[in-house]
Amino acid sequence: MDVRVKETYDEISDEAAELVLEELRKKPDCVLGLTAGSSPMGLYQRLQAAYREGRADFSRVRIFTLSEYIGLEEDNEQSFAYYTRKNFCDGLNLSEKNICMPNGMADDIARECARYGEAIAAAGGIDTMILGIGPNAHIGFNEPGPCFVPETHVVELSDATRAANARFFDAPDDVPHWAVSMGMRDIMFARNILLLASGPGKTEALALAVAGDITPKAPASLLQLHRGAIVIADRIAAKRLPGYECDLP
Ligand code: GLP
Repeated sequence: MDVRVKETYDEISDEAAELVLEELRKKPDCVLGLTAGSSPMGLYQRLQAAYREGRADFSRVRIFTLSEYIGLEEDNEQSFAYYTRKNFCDGLNLSEKNICMPNGMADDIARECARYGEAIAAAGGIDTMILGIGPNAHIGFNEPGPCFVPETHVVELSDATRAANARFFDAPDDVPHWAVSMGMRDIMFARNILLLASGPGKTEALALAVAGDITPKAPASLLQLHRGAIVIADRIAAKRLPGYECDLP
């Protein structure tokens, strides 16, 4: 994997933005896969700034979000749909028809998973996938388990993931137990992958992802088999990676 270690979160975001803007220049109708969470916020702000300043045009870009909680309405502030509209779409000139998200309120959730997978395939797959990483090395909501799940699927969230995401909710018990997630095949078929990680909470997960065995017990480890995966991390998150060991607290 191409590991790039930066001093600050701003530098991580700058580098990621440069890579996404370069992709956009090369392919104005590129397909982006988007994670939610705090890791990509700086990147999304930079993309919005580039649009405001006339340096980027998103009118032909299509987006697919990685995951969604089951049981949260699109306008629920904790839903990933709400997050994505607020922190990404609202500041850009995306066309509404190019905003694709799994519907966590669908009556037939199995059918919704199939529909989402077909929509990704019909778009020709993802060009650039933006990933964060969970403390247990999950990506999207591909949780540690006995096997990698290739397609969009329903996931029962682990206690670790619910605890990590509780900070976005009024109370820990409000975190949904179930979610829909893009599967590992759609992630691995992306032409480019950018995984962003910062802070001490990501150190162990990043070590598992980059330097551990390839195992479904650490889903992000599968990225080691991807040709274009780039990890952009700060020194604390990277401190257990070979060559970047240090005694930062
Ligand atoms: C959630 C999301 C992931 C995200 C992860 C890390 O569980 N489903 O896609 O990467 O959290 O989030 P953060 O960047 O806020 O640490």
